[in-house]
Amino acid sequence: MSPRRRRPSSAPVKARTKRASAERVRPFISASALAARVKALGRAISRDYAGRRLTLVCVLKGAALFFSDLAREVKVPVELEFIGVTSYAGASETSGEVRISTDVARPLAGKDVLLVEDIVDTGLTAAFLVSLLQARNPKSLAVCALLEKPARAKTAVDIAYRGFVIPDVFVVGYGLDFQERYRNLPYLGVLRG
Ligand code: IMP
Ligand code: MG
Repeated sequence: MSPRRRRPSSAPVKARTKRASAERVRPFISASALAARVKALGRAISRDYAGRRLTLVCVLKGAALFFSDLAREVKVPVELEFIGVTSYAGASETSGEVRISTDVARPLAGKDVLLVEDIVDTGLTAAFLVSLLQARNPKSLAVCALLEKPARAKTAVDIAYRGFVIPDVFVVGYGLDFQERYRNLPYLGVLRG
């Protein structure tokens, strides 16, 4: 094959597709702003739980990226646990009816537990998880949420550690998805309509 016919190593077709999808996302909170806020949350958590062990529970999948960054900023000994929830909902809104798809691997009884959420939107998912975990008799239970959208709250959630309070916009990136896409963006963006 002549060199002119071969596709160059950075395939132009793929590059165009990537650019087109990135253009649908308007930058909202930068990677450096996220990192600074996560560091501050980690400092607060480390101070509050000084001298104790902490079980961090990641709510899959949205909190996964935040969770892994936050865990590295927590300076007390931690155990990492994961809980998966499926909500019986449409593309972007929960009904509040939630099913556990993956449960934590170890008992939470007698432990200091911090539930790590991506976003408290209506609050229904977080409220469900709090009552579920509370029933397992942890020594303490608190919620850490990267984002809170108070305009959409349907139920009160006591958030001990919050990253950012945001307006009623649909955000993607840094773990958050729209129809399973955009989770790997290193920043938070708002989808253009
Ligand atoms: P809830 O309405 O507080 O129960 O939130 C349920 C879930 O909806 C969250 O954990 C997210 O996975 C998803 N969600 C809510 N708002 C957004 C958003 O702006 N972007 C992406 N996912 C969202
Ligand atoms: Mg989602």
